[in-house]
Amino acid sequence: MSHAEDHEGTRRDFLYYATAGAGAVTAGAAIWPLVNQMNPSADVQALSSIRVDVSGVEVGTQISVKFLGKPVFIRRRTEEEIAEARAVELADLPDPLDRNANKPGLDASDENRTLDEAGEWLVMMGVCTHLGCVPLGDGAGDYHGWFCPCHGSHYDTAGRIRKGPAPENLPVPVAEFVDETTIKLG
Ligand code: FES
Repeated sequence: MSHAEDHEGTRRDFLYYATAGAGAVTAGAAIWPLVNQMNPSADVQALSSIRVDVSGVEVGTQISVKFLGKPVFIRRRTEEEIAEARAVELADLPDPLDRNANKPGLDASDENRTLDEAGEWLVMMGVCTHLGCVPLGDGAGDYHGWFCPCHGSHYDTAGRIRKGPAPENLPVPVAEFVDETTIKLG
């Protein structure tokens, strides 16, 4: 190492320590505002989890609620819709994963996508996995589930992509029943 480089190195070290020292001195005064800034504000915290009353949702209908700025579909499926989704061979699914935040990494069988074991309740983000349009519901498309008209993606009655450019099944957000008629999202 030349003398000049050595000098540079020493100078850098000096600057580093001087800065660290200054930081340490102000840390005591700065720590609370910093921590407060990192906590989400009360309104953001409230929105990160919402409760949805589904007592009025009839079999064969769905509601759409806004959660974290995006639509969430909550569908109460008919026996036919459940049977149709459960009859599908896994090998026929373009996306083999359940895309369910509540049971991540499992296969895309219908049982792994629904909120309840009987499969009556399907909760999914209403955002096409191609480029983010909001798919049409209520039996739309070739597979009687949802259809995204933007570029022609067809989802089945379990919200799984079956045809078109969308690469993944509609994602299932963190959700649970907190009582018989209330679903908590987030
Ligand atoms: S955004 Fe849905 S098919 Fe392109």
